[in-house]
Amino acid sequence: MKYIFGNWKMYLDYKQSVELANSLVKENLKNENVEIAVFPTALAMKDVTDILQENFKTGAQDAGHPSKGAYTGMISAEMYKNIGCTYALAGHSERRYIFGETNKDVRAKIESYLDAGLKTVVCIGETEQDRNNDKARYRLAKQILRAFEGLNFKEGQIIVAYEPVWAIGTGNACLPADAIDRIDFIKSEIAKYSQNIVPVLYGGSVDENNVLSYFSEDIIDGVLVGGASAKLDNFTDIIKNVLK
Ligand code: PGA
Repeated sequence: MKYIFGNWKMYLDYKQSVELANSLVKENLKNENVEIAVFPTALAMKDVTDILQENFKTGAQDAGHPSKGAYTGMISAEMYKNIGCTYALAGHSERRYIFGETNKDVRAKIESYLDAGLKTVVCIGETEQDRNNDKARYRLAKQILRAFEGLNFKEGQIIVAYEPVWAIGTGNACLPADAIDRIDFIKSEIAKYSQNIVPVLYGGSVDENNVLSYFSEDIIDGVLVGGASAKLDNFTDIIKNVLK
């Protein structure tokens, strides 16, 4: 199984998300070898999930780690699960670097998503500074250690997305050869903590022109697309290029 995930971030409001979901359904892009999921705003999650039904899955961009109670402003993994969500992202770099989430916060989220029965997409990646200081492997190894050490999960419950921070939203995608090298490293690091197969996706400026250069590599289990997934033409072209 390979994966195409579309993270709509805060690009689309409620109405636009519902419109895009309705348009995607009409494109008839369902395929049994590729799992497609979109990650809409929480406001539109229920509607988008209902519209997409068996065509595509949906996932939360983020969820709070307490499951219920006096937590103003939070939405829990369990709440997303109850409305039909399949996935949730943990540790997207925008959560880590704009909103200050630590590896500890990310770990708490991973555990709460697993408890709620959501499949968890753990996002990891080095910053530009890490890369310039030859610390990319150090950063990835640390994020993996904190996410996986002692973690109890079953195969199929966790996917990792390798998203170098310098490649996100910049148009400066990681060279496929470098993504392969990093993903090879990531898989061997994860194997230190778990015997389970954990698929690893690439994310960072993926578009309809470069998607195949990642997707066609055996070691890369799919792509996590941001900006290009929030536009009908770009996202459908990404999917069609992969399926043809
Ligand atoms: P991008 O974002 O495709 O816009 O670079 C990827 C992501 O943040 O998941």
